[in-house]
Amino acid sequence: MKKILILGAGIYQVPLIRAAKRMGLYTIVASIPGNYPGFPLADKVCYENTVDHEAILKIAREENVDGIVTAGTDVAVITIGRVCDALGLRGLSAEAAEIASNKLAMKSRYEEYGVRTARFRKIPFAREDYEELLEGLEFPLIFKSVDSSGSRGITRVDSPADFREARHNALENTRSDYFIAEEFIEGDEFGAQAFVQDGKVEFILPHGDYVFRGDTGVPVGHYAPFETDRACAPDVREQLEKAIAAMKLDNCAINADFIMRDGKTYVLELGGRSGATCLAELVSIYYGFDYYEKILRVALGEHVDFRAIKDDSGRPRLTPNASMLLTSDRDGVILSQENRNDPSDPDIVQIQFDYAPGDSVHAFRVGPHRIGHVITKGDTLGAAVEKLHQALEHIDIRVAGEA
Ligand SMILES: Nc1ncnc2c1ncn2[C@@H]1O[C@H](COP(=O)(O)OP(=O)(O)O)[C@@H](O)[C@H]1O
Ligand SMILES: [Mg+2]
Repeated sequence: MKKILILGAGIYQVPLIRAAKRMGLYTIVASIPGNYPGFPLADKVCYENTVDHEAILKIAREENVDGIVTAGTDVAVITIGRVCDALGLRGLSAEAAEIASNKLAMKSRYEEYGVRTARFRKIPFAREDYEELLEGLEFPLIFKSVDSSGSRGITRVDSPADFREARHNALENTRSDYFIAEEFIEGDEFGAQAFVQDGKVEFILPHGDYVFRGDTGVPVGHYAPFETDRACAPDVREQLEKAIAAMKLDNCAINADFIMRDGKTYVLELGGRSGATCLAELVSIYYGFDYYEKILRVALGEHVDFRAIKDDSGRPRLTPNASMLLTSDRDGVILSQENRNDPSDPDIVQIQFDYAPGDSVHAFRVGPHRIGHVITKGDTLGAAVEKLHQALEHIDIRVAGEA
């Protein structure tokens, strides 16, 4: 029986853990202790912090695992790179993982490899001679801590009056002694899921993002295909392939963030793991295969076929789909959850409630405040999106608390 070590036990690792179990793998889950839904599904649980690469390496060694992987989180990626290097397991390298986990390292690579990205500068926290440091950049800018995720430590800077607060925000969200300032790209944000295996980009699936406008944009849903402008597809592919090469990403899933401005793709960042917020499901539904299973098989060292399933005439059958998080508009306790959708509707792929009545939830501001999700499909993207809105209308979650 093969052994897989999965890092994280949260909502975005649960489907990966389930897939591992379905495949008959001995499934070890490592995570800090907490009320995480992945624990009861695992064959074995190790209560370790997934960023503690020494501790995770020790587990991987002692258990003699055949693979190590995660889904939907950047936090554990450096550990995966280090363990793969140390034990000769299949997965991204420590070097690639480190580049992916530092925005300055990543952007410097992009610049070196000619990837189109916002112009940027490194700013040591110790220096405040911004005029000199920002020479050549134009407002608006965006200040970013280099080693955080989920929009933490990121502030838009419209004029020098915003410098102090933006620097402070970066400082509060970093372990580094510098941050980066980059030009703000005014355009349409979108993303892509991709996979690279033995140096070959196996697929690139651009997707549209539904964004909640809080302090910064937070993705709350996605849809595919993303075809607002077919003419741009070759440019997306070119920039993504260059970025993958620049970061030396290999044998891993890729979660990419882009902005489209004037028909040109700007790369914001790439992560060496599959996306959260129903993005792995988006890949599975679109191509008609189980993406989690493929991610696991690559981690176990198999050579995996990523081609879409075919219809009767031998053409790839691609299924449009859409998803949305369920959220609360207030902090409080769930009173009731009602789903009035037809359970036999084939185009409602999944409706998930993360909590039960009596549980406390947050007013939505960031991704982890989600309280569930809905995923739909259709013959066309329009049908999938319409089904999504219908399905959402037939869900009522009542939360007691102050709005
Ligand atoms: N150069 C930029 N121009 C415009 N918006 C940006 C830029 N950089 C980041 N953003 C916005 O901030 C969000 C988070 O930035 P990102 O670099 O992806 O960091 P994180 O690791 O926190 O996701 C992006 O999704 C986008 O909405
Ligand atoms: Mg991002």
